[in-house]
This record gives sequence, structure tokens and C-alpha cells, in this order.
Amino acid sequence: MTKIIAANWKQNGSLKLLIKLTRDIRTGINRLKKRPKTILFPPSIYLDPISKEIKKNKANNKNIQLGIQNISPYNNGAYTGEISIGMTNDFGCTYILIGHSERRHIFMESEKFISNKVSIAFQKNKKVILCVGETLKDYRSNNTKQVITRQINSALRESLQLIKKNKKNLVIAYEPVWAIGTGRSAKIQDIETTHTLIRKLLFKLINDTKSEIKILYGGSVSPQNAKEILDAENVDGALVGGASLSAKKFIEICRTI
Ligand code: PGA
Repeated sequence: MTKIIAANWKQNGSLKLLIKLTRDIRTGINRLKKRPKTILFPPSIYLDPISKEIKKNKANNKNIQLGIQNISPYNNGAYTGEISIGMTNDFGCTYILIGHSERRHIFMESEKFISNKVSIAFQKNKKVILCVGETLKDYRSNNTKQVITRQINSALRESLQLIKKNKKNLVIAYEPVWAIGTGRSAKIQDIETTHTLIRKLLFKLINDTKSEIKILYGGSVSPQNAKEILDAENVDGALVGGASLSAKKFIEICRTI
């Protein structure tokens, strides 16, 4: 099964830097014998130029896809500062990141808000990467299972029928909050336990008997730990933050699949 390696550039870079990064990633992936499915999540204001840069090499169009880091839970209207799903269609933007821990914790997005975003994305036939993850406090008090179960249930509950019809449009990213940007990734054993839990939840909720829904790991993925993480049970890919801002590191991670 083709692994997914996604790059979340967050609020980093400039037009010049990100165009160069896209070009270097595109050429780097082109040289790989075995290529992952790559998804780039640039800051929204750069979607258009990055989309054009991706398309410059037709051979790679299928391997590299574009995603948006955040989306409005509403259709077009009076929502200052927001971007609707319809607007993303103008830029060949296929994936939407929903529920990233920085949105949950810094921008106070509630579980209801996240569920609304999943719902509108599925109504509009978009592909969703839903992020879930426990805080350090939850991890230390052995609450990971409860937190992940609650986050998955609350995000998907409203959209179960639509997801069942289009299972491949859903990807889950398990990202322990305490592992994001800290240089301290989760232990392989913990990753496997949580991914297996997510598999079971998806089986129960969506009847995903064929494991069509991919489960990515995110949180300090680096060229050093990528192989071990990507080889772990039920790990279908990685969501990479910091290391995706270096084409060299990102390609090294892609090379480990
Ligand atoms: P990181 O970020 O790789 O810098 O830990 C991952 C993420 O936030 O998706």
C-alpha cells in the first residue's frame, strides 16, 4: 500500500522560500525509486503559486497533491478572515487538515466546530485529514485511549453516512500534542497501541473492514526516526511539520518508505 507523507508548513516561509521548497521537493521525489503519495499544506495565501509549481512537472502531478491547513465550517458568506471549501476548488486543493492540535489548543476550536468542518468537507466531496492527539497531562495520567476515542467519535458522528460512502476520503493523523515540535516523538509501542485503537474505532463506527482509511503518525518525525515509525503496525504514513521545511530532510523521510 502506498504510504502518505504529508508536509504541514504551518505559518512559516515566504513566497520565494516556499516556491523553492516545492521545487526541491518535486525534483527530489522525482528521483526516488519508490514514491510516497505526498501532500503539501502551505499557508493558504500561497496555495495558487504552490499549485502552479506542483503542476510544472506533469509526471509528478499524481504523486504530489495540495491541501489547505484550515477551512471554514460555513459556506460563503459574512465570515471575516475565513476560506470556504468552494474557494479551495479553484486551486486544485484536494485535502483539508481538520482538528490540528494548534487549532484545538491555540485557536480554541471546539469538538463541535471540528465536527462541523468534517461534515461540510464530506458534503462537498473533499478529502479530510483529521488530527487527533492527547496532551502530556492526558498521556501521563493514562487517558490517551479515552481522549482519542472521544475525539474520533465527536468529529465523525455527524458524518457517518457520508463517510461510509467514501471511506477513502478520510485519513486520520494521530499526533500526540506533546510530541509536536518538541523533537520527542512517541514510543513505537505507544504509536502501535493508539493506531490499533483507531483502527478498531473506525471498524466499529464506519465498518472499515478493509482498512481503507489510512492512519498517519505525526509529532517530531525526522529522517532519523522515520523508518522505524513508518514500519510500525497500522502506520500508513506520516504528517511532518518542522522537518518538512527542509527539502533534504523531507526527501530523506520519503526515502524510508
Ligand atoms: P512536527 O509537527 O513534525 O514539527 O512535530 C507535526 C505537526 O504538527 O503536524
